Amino acid sequence: MDKFFDTATPPPIDRVDGRAKVTGTAQYAAEYDLPGLVYGVLVGSTVAKGTIAAMDTRAAEKSPGVLAVITHLNAPPIPGYAQSTSPNPGQTRGGGLKIFNDNIISFNGEPIALVVADTFERATHAASLVKAQYKKEAPHTNLTEATKTGKPVEGDRYKENVRGERDAWKSAAVKIEAEYIMPTQVHNPMEMHATTVRWDADNKVTVWDKTQGVVSTQRSVAEAFKLEQKDVRVNAQYVGGGFGAALRTWPHVIAAVMGAKKVGKPLKLVLTRPQMFLLVGYRPEAIQKIAMGASANGKLVGMVHEAFATTSTYENFNEGVVAQTRQLYACPNVATKYNIYALDVSTPTWMRGPGEATGSWPLECGLDELSYALNIDPIELRKINHADTDPENGKPYSSKFLKEAYDLGADKIGWKKRKQKPATETEDGWMVGYGMSGGLFGASRGEGRIAAKLTADGTLILQSAVSDSGPGTATAMTQIASNIIGLPPEKIKFELGDSLFPPGPTQGGSTTTSTLGTTVNAACQTLKKRLVGLLKTQESEVKLEDVEFTKGEMRLKNGTKISYADALKASGQTSIEIIEASGRNPEMQKYSAYSYSVHFVKVKVHPLTGVVRVDKVVVAGDAGTIISEKTAASQMIGGAVGGIGGALTEEGVVDHRYGRWVNNDFANYHVPVHADVPPIETVFVNKPDPILNPNGAKGMGEIAIIGFAAAVGNAVYNATGKRIRSLPITPDKMLQA
Ligand code: MOS
Repeated sequence: MDKFFDTATPPPIDRVDGRAKVTGTAQYAAEYDLPGLVYGVLVGSTVAKGTIAAMDTRAAEKSPGVLAVITHLNAPPIPGYAQSTSPNPGQTRGGGLKIFNDNIISFNGEPIALVVADTFERATHAASLVKAQYKKEAPHTNLTEATKTGKPVEGDRYKENVRGERDAWKSAAVKIEAEYIMPTQVHNPMEMHATTVRWDADNKVTVWDKTQGVVSTQRSVAEAFKLEQKDVRVNAQYVGGGFGAALRTWPHVIAAVMGAKKVGKPLKLVLTRPQMFLLVGYRPEAIQKIAMGASANGKLVGMVHEAFATTSTYENFNEGVVAQTRQLYACPNVATKYNIYALDVSTPTWMRGPGEATGSWPLECGLDELSYALNIDPIELRKINHADTDPENGKPYSSKFLKEAYDLGADKIGWKKRKQKPATETEDGWMVGYGMSGGLFGASRGEGRIAAKLTADGTLILQSAVSDSGPGTATAMTQIASNIIGLPPEKIKFELGDSLFPPGPTQGGSTTTSTLGTTVNAACQTLKKRLVGLLKTQESEVKLEDVEFTKGEMRLKNGTKISYADALKASGQTSIEIIEASGRNPEMQKYSAYSYSVHFVKVKVHPLTGVVRVDKVVVAGDAGTIISEKTAASQMIGGAVGGIGGALTEEGVVDHRYGRWVNNDFANYHVPVHADVPPIETVFVNKPDPILNPNGAKGMGEIAIIGFAAAVGNAVYNATGKRIRSLPITPDKMLQA
């Protein structure tokens, strides 16, 4: 180990929580067995729209072990549920789903009761005995139909946005126009959403929750129950995947806290897998029209991108579906429009690469279509239209190494083996093709706080109320601290997931490393100053810049080496403890900042069955400095695995007659399994962003999936000459095309 610490590049460290996770000692929200714990199970409505006319809970209440059946008829009022305010005229509810607050049903499966019993099995059985009568109305859940007969939500953010001339693409020498479809996709993290609640006093509660935002959950629970924020303790030491589903405090969390109070016992509520499709959001389906035109030399003349997507009737969910089209290429004339339709479904939410993952499907396939129309290599076409500065506002980029990413990835997949003419290559009776796509996601940095404690035994403890939904936050933070303070990673402990720690950011939008890495960096710099300060009694001239911090020692110019432990002991202190805060970089106002991914795939398509196999994947990324090599690669691999599902199998299906999900389980909603996942290689430009933050890191979580489906669609076209514009690319579509 030691030899690495004198070199510029430290060795990749293992995931610091890896052993706990794989050996089962890591505790998740549903794994806290508190004395006297009781179990809550939610009952869902069986209609999609209407009102509850009557409920019969007598059988459930008499069922063995049942402590309470909570419905809108007897639910304790949630003080924070103010009068419903609807975002849209004609809508009766708004501001999020207020559970058990009224008798209105807005989607099929909406919770109508919480059954609490002494065991999970008894609660589940009693839940099956709850009966409701509804005054039904005909639900509308069909987006295609809504775009024809309905009206989209109105407002400024849904207006057409034109740069240059709207229809310039029409007069271009070469042009394409097409419609692309993406169905509903669902996060489906391995761990179900779960909340364990214990009221510690009348106005004090502890919650173990699956959340990507420790502080945001603390705030949401405090607001709902009108508690002091400090009197709500949230724990989320481990999170088994989130992908955006755990960015909000959903109504079941409020129901669990309410239920625990009502029965006066600690309560655990775990959503079932089918409920995971209904109650914690999803990536909304989208119908998208794309048109683009270029001159014969490949220069983009104009683009038009219009998206039609779904929201619920009680909330307007928005994401930047068309934003990337305005940003990724230097095109003078771009028109975009984003429409959402309020349907009788639950509210969608952010899902990995929110907006961009959806928008990249038509954008990056459209560019591929154009490349064939122009007979220009797709990478070359992208380079021809590379945006050197932000096409929207002319600002320089804080860093951009997209061209390098194209080249690194092309090299690794063996792009030169690709034939520009489709359907010309076979291997073992399978048709073979290569495809690629680009993607971007905004890079930013927010506010973070951490506590740092350097002790006389030579260890450093860092603490922040942030959670890690999987990317390896503690590992990356440990690496940053190790690089700066000069301690080996095993002497550093990064503790997270407890709201008692100083507030950290919500883990969303690929910002944690940028945000909290800045705080860790600052804390370590402060500690170094304090360590040098300890020396002053012995060596009054010592200046910070003259000291090398390495292997837990300060090395002075005169050759003296003093360990941090000895410096502390000599000064009579047992530790240095600080709280460090960091925020945005005001300098960033002058820049635009994005991370970039380029996905390359090789596919094999069976000519008789239409089966598509992803045979090889290369992900190239410009995410600034790579802080932690292993977790960075893992994150990109995970995004690609999700991308394979989105490209080939994942599709949420609703029976529009009843507005009811028909495949809300893992038997029928197909996520990739190991056999679907080929070798995935990652390659990073690994050059620092010099402006965004002192570590030079941009974000990575979102770009890992953005553009992936298009890369597969483009490879399928290259292999077969068939352009599939509707996801997922299933064998039936291949055979019909
Ligand atoms: Mo992500 S969709 O910001 O968890």
